[in-house]
Parts: sequence; structure tokens; C-alpha cells
Amino acid sequence: MRKKLVAGNWKMHGALQQNTALLAHITAAASGMACEIAVCPPYPYLAQAQSALAGSVVALGAQSVSEHACGAFTGEVSASMLAEFGCRYVLLGHSERRGLFGETDAIVAVKFEAAQKAGLLPVLCLGETLGERESGNTMRVIARQLSAVLDRLGVAAMASAVVAYEPVWAIGTGVTASPAQAQEVHAAIRAQVAVLDAGVAEGLRILYGGSVKPQNAVELFGQSDIDGGLIGGAALVADDFLKICLAAN
Ligand code: PGA
Repeated sequence: MRKKLVAGNWKMHGALQQNTALLAHITAAASGMACEIAVCPPYPYLAQAQSALAGSVVALGAQSVSEHACGAFTGEVSASMLAEFGCRYVLLGHSERRGLFGETDAIVAVKFEAAQKAGLLPVLCLGETLGERESGNTMRVIARQLSAVLDRLGVAAMASAVVAYEPVWAIGTGVTASPAQAQEVHAAIRAQVAVLDAGVAEGLRILYGGSVKPQNAVELFGQSDIDGGLIGGAALVADDFLKICLAAN
């Protein structure tokens, strides 16, 4: 039985005071939840979140990481730095990183390796654009994105990772994939891993992301291959985020 995970991706949102209130709400409610909960604030707030989450069951994650361990890479943050600030997870290959910052499948795979070397659990984000879906290429795109990591690191790497299926057309749009659409892709992701190792596939948590709201979370999380959610907009509103966590219970 896979324990569900609900992770909040704050994107480039937050401020010290606002974060204090949000984190206090989440930690106060989290202890009674059956699912695992994580929050991924922007880098400058990791220290704040680390201390706010101390002693709580809520895990900390980051939104990106450098593929390099250290050196002359102005503006970058390494995996060991994230580990030092208590991060358990790091999002990788989010569609905004792929689309706006030029992260290719190959770069995402190198980042995945760097994250695991530092003991972080990568949350590997996969997703097709609307054009790719409409041209019937969803499964091909998802398989290609996943293969980049499998080919570089082998299936064993997926035993210490999480996957998030996030159709690009559903992110921040208010249009969510239907539970059946999401389930179809989640099952295909698990099947691709199962070809290489059935045990790893069975244990792999595959989150859904893209306009998850309290109103649609129960049905999405009720699908057999959906093991929780990666939440953007609704992760900034404590009540909404906690309702989504409850839906994963
Ligand atoms: P959304 O974002 O919930 O606002 O659609 C999800 C994400 O980008 O991870």
C-alpha cells in the first residue's frame, strides 16, 4: 500500500509574514492526517520553513536544484545545500522549468542524479502540452521524459523518487485532467517502470498535478494509480491545501 503524498509547490510566491501563518496552519492540522504532506517554498524561505516545520510531520522540499555540486555557477543552488536546510524532496523537470528555463530531458536526468547523490528524493514532473495531447502524442511524450531518467540511472533510481504527472494544459488554468484521463497516464507511467522492475513500479508514488482543488481532489485521489497530488495555487491557501490533504486520507 503506497502512502499518499500531497506536496505544495509555492512557485515564486511567499513573504516572511505570510509564510509564518501558512506554515502554522498546516503544521497544526498535519499531525492528524494519514497522508504525507510536504511544502516546497522558494529558496530564500527554506530556513524559515525548516524551523517552522521542526518537530512536525510536514516535510520540506525545494522547487529546483543545480546539476552541479559546487563551483562557479552564479545564482545556482546545489543539492547538498538543500539537504543541509532539511529538504527531503526536490521538484525536478516542472513544466515551468522545462518551458521557461530551457531544462531538457537530459538536464533533468542529470539534476535527478545530483539530487539523489545528496540524499534528496526527486519529484520528477512529467507532462504533455495541449498541442501534444491534441495530436495524440501524450503517451509518447511522457514515456520519453521518463526514459531520460531510466536510461541514465536505471530503474533502481525510481525506488527513491516520486513521479508527478502534470499535464501542462492543466497547470494554473483551472482546467483539470478528468480522473479517467489522469488515471490512464498514471497507469502507463507505472507500466513503463514495471517492464523493468515490477516491485519498484508497485512502490512508486505517482502524484497528479494541475488545478487540483478541494472540489476535485477526492475523485482524482480515488483512482488506483494516483498516489496524491502536487498542488500549486491551492497550496497557498491553508484551508484549501488542508482540504486537499484530507481528500488523500
Ligand atoms: P496548479 O499548479 O495547482 O496551480 O495548477 C500545479 C503545479 O504547477 O505544480
